[in-house]
Amino acid sequence: MHDESPEAPALHTWEFAADPYPAYAWLREHSPVHRTTLPSGVDAWLVTRYADARQALADSRLSKNPVHHCESAHAKGKVGIPGERKADLVSHLLNIDPPDHTRLRRLVSKAFTPRRVAEFAPRVSELTDRLIDAFAARGSADLIHEFAFPLPIYAICDMLGVPREDQDDFRDWAGMMIRHGGGPRGGVARSVKRMRSYLAELIHRKRADLGDDLISGLIRASDHGEHLTENEAAAMAFILLFAGFETTVNLVGNGLYALLRNGDQRARLQDSLARGETELLATGVEELLRYDGPVELATWRFATEPLTLAGVPIDVGDPVLVVLAAADRDPERFEGPDTLDLSRANNPHLGFGHGIHYCIGAPLARLEGQTALAALLRRLPDLRLAVEPEELRWRGGLIMRGLRTLPVEFGPES
Ligand code: HEM
Repeated sequence: MHDESPEAPALHTWEFAADPYPAYAWLREHSPVHRTTLPSGVDAWLVTRYADARQALADSRLSKNPVHHCESAHAKGKVGIPGERKADLVSHLLNIDPPDHTRLRRLVSKAFTPRRVAEFAPRVSELTDRLIDAFAARGSADLIHEFAFPLPIYAICDMLGVPREDQDDFRDWAGMMIRHGGGPRGGVARSVKRMRSYLAELIHRKRADLGDDLISGLIRASDHGEHLTENEAAAMAFILLFAGFETTVNLVGNGLYALLRNGDQRARLQDSLARGETELLATGVEELLRYDGPVELATWRFATEPLTLAGVPIDVGDPVLVVLAAADRDPERFEGPDTLDLSRANNPHLGFGHGIHYCIGAPLARLEGQTALAALLRRLPDLRLAVEPEELRWRGGLIMRGLRTLPVEFGPES
């Protein structure tokens, strides 16, 4: 990100990617609604204080539909917007507003219930153990590639009802998307296209032979009064995969990294797990979401009318980016915000967002995060970083915050 104001911190360096929190503290204090030019050349507003962030996330004048930005930019003579792109943009939850959002969200909530997630717990444990089994005897591993990355892909595929024999294809497509998130468009676009057409075909097949999975649940819900086209169902399956994948990789990766760097907190958690307790694990995962959450910025929002945020005027069509990572370190809301405290009570973090777009996958993310961290700490109690923290690289990119690799060492399993 480039910035016009001379005293503002640089927002586009490696140092920023490794530790954005000092820059966010500056913004919260000096420029809480801050105009910046993104590397793509688009001007956007960054909202960094907790109270403003929460308000903006729930403000119906901030639309999720990029058409608002494109149309206003188009009116200003900046970019054109082809018709077919317009149709594609409005097809999934994170890009639409009520009433379409309400209808689609209600549908997916019927299929993606907390009960269904709870029933899925044994499968997540089994997956986690299988992944650890593969490297436990080796004494070293890269926990991003060998653990955090495959876990959510297999978990969501299972939940959706993607047959096991096809799941490695998803692993490859997702790998392409995560490696080249902002990179070569060709490969990523191809992977997205393959994934979408696979899902469309799967939905078609399942319609003839409904099962107990999430896709069948979506089809059933849509057959009971609510209308859901096959294209919308494919878009829904895709957004569930897409929204639930890199986020969970980062919850496990960032969470483990924070624990490895905060020995006292990690020891507390290990002791409590050894006593068979789960309370600290539950509050601990919430704290890890607050302290170094997977989603640095909430997804795009666009002003549909002129408005002011914290006294700053925002023009129609202007993009507004709510910086969840900054809001969750706001000292006005959190005591000692830069301290990791796994037993933190009163922790209304914004890691899963807020308002009508609040993360629908939060119960699954919590289940995966808690299961993954508990299994690793239990089975590999002397887990330690195999490199200096300065050697680790963070993935650049706008929305997500996560490590490229997490090399660790550990003694043989007892
Ligand atoms: C929405 C975070 C895991 C599915 C969101 C939003 C956030 C978020 C911040 C709101 C974005 C905004 O308002 O701009 C996370 C984090 C996760 C996680 C931190 C992991 C730790 C998942 C999983 C799934 C999922 C596992 C599904 C399998 C979704 C969907 C939405 C969403 C479908 C859009 C909801 C809507 O627009 O109504 N998530 N998410 N997420 N998330 Fe998650």
